[in-house]
Amino acid sequence: MDILEGIRARRSIRKYKPDPVSIQDLKKVLEAVQWSPSWTNSQCWELVVVDDPEMKLKLQGCLPLGNPSVKAVVEAPYLIAVCGKKGRSGFKKGGPMTIYGDWIAFDLGIASEHLCLAAKALGLGTVHVGLIDHKKAKEALKLPDDIDVYELIPLGYPLEEPTGPGRKSLGEFVHWNSFGNKKEI
Ligand SMILES: Cc1cc2nc3c(=O)[nH]c(=O)nc-3n(C[C@H](O)[C@H](O)[C@H](O)COP(=O)(O)O)c2cc1C
Repeated sequence: MDILEGIRARRSIRKYKPDPVSIQDLKKVLEAVQWSPSWTNSQCWELVVVDDPEMKLKLQGCLPLGNPSVKAVVEAPYLIAVCGKKGRSGFKKGGPMTIYGDWIAFDLGIASEHLCLAAKALGLGTVHVGLIDHKKAKEALKLPDDIDVYELIPLGYPLEEPTGPGRKSLGEFVHWNSFGNKKEI
């Protein structure tokens, strides 16, 4: 699957088959994070791979009941907690390099989507699960103080083929030279 096809075809998967995912495929998916770009190559990510059913249940307890991925986090063979070390990305000599301070969420977002696209290329499904009680999840994962968890990603073989919600047209969000100038392409 080429990159453009993968980007277009990836959808959030919230129903999973119980079929196991090979360690080889898991490794390939994790390597997609390893090779992600990051601020000054700071690589602030830390991943916790969860395959213990009890730990999955604990993490499920960190999702609000209305989260559409409540079942997915326990059904998928793996649940990957995307965590990162604070105060690295976007910082130089301890100080922030931009008005945005910590770029951890940006770097982890890129890395997470790399993971999801690599999974797609291997026929695996994923969904970003960011609506969680982050404090509770941090405790459950026994993270040290300087490491936070941002999202959970179930990983497994899809049991559904959702079409996904539609998207804005390019004309709605692409501007030329300055904001508001639109051009048909
Ligand atoms: C940062 C982020 C957090 C998300 N959090 C959740 C979540 O907590 N639960 C969920 O079911 N989907 C979550 N999603 C999935 C989005 O709802 C989904 O990507 C969006 O509706 C587009 O659908 P698609 O991924 O199928 O194209 C999240 C996506 C992103 C990028």
